[in-house]
Amino acid sequence: MLIDLRKVEKAYRTGSVEFKALKGIDFEGKRGEYIAVVGPSGSGKSTLMNIVGCLDIPTAGEYFLEGQPVNGMTSNQLADIRNKKVGFVFQAFNLLPYATAFENVEVPLLFARTNGKNRKKRVMEVLSRVGLADKINNRPTEMSGGEMQRTAIARALANEPDIILADEPTGNLDSASGGEIVKIFDELWKMGKTIIVITHDMNIARRADRIIKLKDGLIDTNGNML
Ligand SMILES: Nc1ncnc2c1ncn2[C@@H]1O[C@H](COP(=O)(O)OP(=O)(O)OP(=O)(O)O)[C@@H](O)[C@H]1O
Ligand SMILES: [Mg+2]
Repeated sequence: MLIDLRKVEKAYRTGSVEFKALKGIDFEGKRGEYIAVVGPSGSGKSTLMNIVGCLDIPTAGEYFLEGQPVNGMTSNQLADIRNKKVGFVFQAFNLLPYATAFENVEVPLLFARTNGKNRKKRVMEVLSRVGLADKINNRPTEMSGGEMQRTAIARALANEPDIILADEPTGNLDSASGGEIVKIFDELWKMGKTIIVITHDMNIARRADRIIKLKDGLIDTNGNML
């Protein structure tokens, strides 16, 4: 199993108040699956994604990634997983504002200590894949929302991760730009990537192999999926 969460809990402490955002999640994701995560605001979707992507660790329960227990990993090991195995895509793109598309996509390759020649080749390859070969020198302020998100997807792909995690990737886009993102995810899935996407966008959710619904920090197995 690629992704295997067992009774995962996440408690946040604010001052003396503890709040359980996840209350015991059992969740398995196979290699190559396309999974949509839905649920009301505050139900724990982003918290779950952060744990799957090793941005955060559970406060109880266990998470095995490719059979390896994530709970026992050092911060260096977690950083390495985030850099190499997982590509993140966020609603607000999270690009470096003063850097060009090329430089933004280059960042994860710099962290991975990829040499200059291979970096350039790889940046051009992934920017071409998302249809931005002619925008490499544009900064975020010089791009449309859809182009910013495609740059962010190229950045997520830079180190050829097996897993793509996206948190409302079309939430800030008009339907045409959103449609392009949906197509790119389809292509990535056909290439064998494992995709987990938080979304309210039916165009994405209906493409997924399955839909996970969260409610109050738990997987909701009852009722309508959307
Ligand atoms: N760092 C934090 N400290 C304290 N509480 C937090 C923190 N992050 C999230 N929470 C709380 O945990 C709960 C789940 O948050 P989360 O961001 O996972 O929700 P979500 O399902 O992604 O919602 P949305 O659809 O609005 O993005 C919320 O009640 C939120 O207030
Ligand atoms: Mg969220």
